[in-house]
Amino acid sequence: MTPDLMDEGARRIQAKLAPAALGQTESGGRAAGFSRIATPGEVDITHGRILYLEDVNVSFDGFKAINNLSLDIAPGELRCIIGPNGAGKTTMMDIITGKTRPDSGTVYFGSTIDLLRHNEPEIASLGIGRKFQKPTVFEQLSVFENLELALKTHKGVKSSMFFRLDSAQSDRLAEILHTIHLADSVARMAGNLSHGQKQWLEIGMLLMQDPKLLLLDEPVAGMTDEETARTAELFLTLKGKHSLMVVEHDMSFIRTISEIVTVLCDGAVLAQGTLDQVQADERVIEVYLGR
Ligand SMILES: Nc1ncnc2c1ncn2[C@@H]1O[C@H](COP(=O)(O)OP(=O)(O)OP(=O)(O)O)[C@@H](O)[C@H]1O
Ligand SMILES: [Mg+2]
Repeated sequence: MTPDLMDEGARRIQAKLAPAALGQTESGGRAAGFSRIATPGEVDITHGRILYLEDVNVSFDGFKAINNLSLDIAPGELRCIIGPNGAGKTTMMDIITGKTRPDSGTVYFGSTIDLLRHNEPEIASLGIGRKFQKPTVFEQLSVFENLELALKTHKGVKSSMFFRLDSAQSDRLAEILHTIHLADSVARMAGNLSHGQKQWLEIGMLLMQDPKLLLLDEPVAGMTDEETARTAELFLTLKGKHSLMVVEHDMSFIRTISEIVTVLCDGAVLAQGTLDQVQADERVIEVYLGR
């Protein structure tokens, strides 16, 4: 796909957004984009998008789970995705992360990396981290060991015998412990943490790999109100440094963290805007109340 096509596609998607929501996704300028030489391993965001999906389709046994889905996300943005059960939210994340191959469509990371040419581990190492709903921490290891292991795995360290964190890595681990509110629990066994703390630890493990884009599927499901509030704070601190795509059914959580909310339904974008805008949209009311 050429940059022109991409710009045109993004314009079409963004034309549907409220003007107030547009500022952050404005392109950095075509001239600058064309003169820039892409550095291997770096995500090219000169076109103002870190993630770009256009006309993506997936069918499972004839059922269209994703139906001409087009969507883009700006660098540093915290995008919320809502939609009824079966709307295709998880399937969309499966496509971005290489778990599911679409039948057709375009999926780009920045303007130069075609994600459909990469497999799941490659996509993770390109800088897309994914958090599934169920926490998957190593219960028998301490909080510290879990974070250290996440770094080793990312760096492809085969044997842990001689692996020592360098000072930058130690600083990073300490900073992340603080960010995920587990600085007082470094030596605790992960299995003894609360459900919310396990979720934070898993987010910390993703952060150790310094992802550019984080995909979070129902991160506050099963959390207490207090844990949910702390998770909202956490996401607001991550925004800007990382781009985030957050799928949630908890509307009060969405209200706390959201800027632009995208409503998915039947595998496509039904509405997009602020939470108030989409909640006032007749079509959105229909799909939530009509089922
Ligand atoms: N591997 C699969 N094989 C067959 N059908 C699937 C597969 N994965 C998803 N689907 C179907 O695709 C549709 C979209 O599912 P998906 O899990 O993406 O929805 P969702 O928006 O994440 O819903 P929820 O809010 O309940 O998590 C559903 O009808 C689901 O049954
Ligand atoms: Mg889901």
